[in-house]
Amino acid sequence: MYIPIILGTGREGRQSEKVARYILSEAKSAGFESEILDVREFSRTATDNTCNTPPAKRYSEKIRKAAALIIVTPEYNHGYPGELKLMLDSIYEEYAGKPLGICGVSAGPLGGARAVEQLRLVAVELRMPLLREALYFASVQDLFDDNGIIKDKDAWGRRTKKFFDELSSRVR
Ligand SMILES: Cc1cc2nc3c(=O)[nH]c(=O)nc-3n(C[C@H](O)[C@H](O)[C@H](O)COP(=O)(O)O)c2cc1C
Repeated sequence: MYIPIILGTGREGRQSEKVARYILSEAKSAGFESEILDVREFSRTATDNTCNTPPAKRYSEKIRKAAALIIVTPEYNHGYPGELKLMLDSIYEEYAGKPLGICGVSAGPLGGARAVEQLRLVAVELRMPLLREALYFASVQDLFDDNGIIKDKDAWGRRTKKFFDELSSRVR
């Protein structure tokens, strides 16, 4: 069962990439086929919902075969990144009925909670049923070692288990 992970920022030096890689390994451990869909590859420079560009076609194929979707988003000025919205808006029908789990990332103490809540409003229009669980990676700059390995494996393991348990119950 294929559940891709959207990495929602293209920022140079992004910490969210470490989170996306961690979620990718947890998704695989939970028994899902997965990969990171990077906004750097799939986003546009302006809104284009024609689905005619090669990146949109590739993205469309991936979302069509997905059983659900996970988004990793940082919080920028209390919202989610613009490039993430451009990527999401490049297709539409493909999302319908697919459960969505969201992971927030921030340098501050709230773990991107405000960006996560804003994305939930977008998910309603995309007709994606939302997971109740979300993961909030607060103070992300302190969470991983120099090799990108999460430091507190046990605590994060417990949180991600709840997240993937709910996701599994929605797709299996
Ligand atoms: C334009 C911009 C706005 C930001 N606004 C917020 C914010 O509103 N709240 C917050 O906790 N962190 C904010 N940050 C810090 C990010 O949370 C921080 O960069 C973190 O590492 C996650 O984003 P990253 O994947 O780009 O590294 C902001 C960062 C940028 C670049």
